[in-house]
Amino acid sequence: MRTKVGIIGAGPAGLMLSHLLHLQGIDSVIIERKSREQVENTVRAGVLEQGTIDLLNETGVGDRMMELGQPHKGIEFQFSGKRHRIDFEKLTGGKEIMIYPQHEVLKDLISARLEVGGKILFNADNVSLHDIDTTEPKICFQHNGENQELVCDFIAGCDGYHGPSRKAIPKEYLHESEYTPPFGWLGILTETPPASDELIYTYHERGFALLSTRSPNVQRYYLQVDPSDDISNWSDERIWSELHARVDLDGWTLEEGPITQKNIVTMRSFMCETMQYGRLYIAGDAAHIVPPTGAKGMNLAIGDVQVLAEGLKHFYETNSDVLLDQYSDACVRRGWKAQRFASQMTNLLHHNHQKTTFEHGVQLAELEHISSSTAASSTIAENYADLKVDIPR
Ligand code: FAD
Ligand code: DHB
Repeated sequence: MRTKVGIIGAGPAGLMLSHLLHLQGIDSVIIERKSREQVENTVRAGVLEQGTIDLLNETGVGDRMMELGQPHKGIEFQFSGKRHRIDFEKLTGGKEIMIYPQHEVLKDLISARLEVGGKILFNADNVSLHDIDTTEPKICFQHNGENQELVCDFIAGCDGYHGPSRKAIPKEYLHESEYTPPFGWLGILTETPPASDELIYTYHERGFALLSTRSPNVQRYYLQVDPSDDISNWSDERIWSELHARVDLDGWTLEEGPITQKNIVTMRSFMCETMQYGRLYIAGDAAHIVPPTGAKGMNLAIGDVQVLAEGLKHFYETNSDVLLDQYSDACVRRGWKAQRFASQMTNLLHHNHQKTTFEHGVQLAELEHISSSTAASSTIAENYADLKVDIPR
């Protein structure tokens, strides 16, 4: 089999890249380890920033998002028994976010690709990369019990943190760094009406809590827990009691409902600054992981492939690598900005038991400063609602 761009992974990065390339008349094949059902049903991100909303609309895959998604014009910070609104609309000149689940974005992209004959090979096993430092790199894999080889001009490694793409770059060229924040998130889906019109990020001495939403009937709530904790320690009663302890206010109590899903995820901050080697380009979680507090991971992944698609378009139009050569630098710069913001939000809102009383005092003062200063809340609003993608052109 032959294609121009072989894409490993049908997450937001891989699917959006394939879609953008198709719009430029560049053919690609996606090779995905999971089944279509698994890809379309895994609950992950929920927040799309302005640039992502615009891209989905401009490229013709935004209709269901506009119908089913919930536009929000701000978020709330809650601490010391009070809520403080960060007004995106006012502070950013009209930017907003959309609450629309990642797996719904994936459904939209998969159906758009398949409708026009796009090729996505689900359930592929033993995917490996070969000859990436030549002009004919190959992806080998098993599909329907048969060994297959996909010969490409380029390979896009969009296969998440654990995928084979980054590992195919020789160790001596890899420039990686990481930090593991000492926090885990217990996430639930619950059938109950929304707690509020906007997301509520709560700092409490018992730990962080986040009230997010999925639809008028289903809500997504998170609790900071120890990263080594096990979900079997958390009965539904314990989850509700902890949520009440952290988020209830005088005269306001969180409404409970049946919990339909619960799990614990650990946090990781990771940067691979080598996003290109030979004809291999890595994008999204394959290259960087941000803690979820800034709601940036999927948005970063989609930003990366916008830059990559532009570079590939330029290559096929002019036979020049000049834009592709800027891919890694452009994405790494934005990646660090997202790391800075995600780490600021994480440190601001989580309770770190290892901090001293003095450090907790400074943390609360920082929350008060952000909530009372237009300059400070503007930087949160700008970063949360629209971390710009600088596309070399
Ligand atoms: P992925 O979505 O991980 O996709 C990679 C794909 O590659 C997968 O389908 C995988 O099956 C496939 N793959 C892996 N290995 C192989 C292999 N060997 N062969 C073939 N295929 C392979 N981000 C936000 O922007 N906003 C949020 O609100 C937000 N909230 C989050 C909340 C939680 C609890 C979590 C866990 C994450 C959150 N994120 C959020 C992060 C976001 O989900 C990820 O950053 C995003 O999925 C990255 O997209 P990706 O395409 O790079 O990788
Ligand atoms: C959601 C996830 C996040 O990481 C976040 O910061 C906000 C919302 C969500 O899943 O809804």
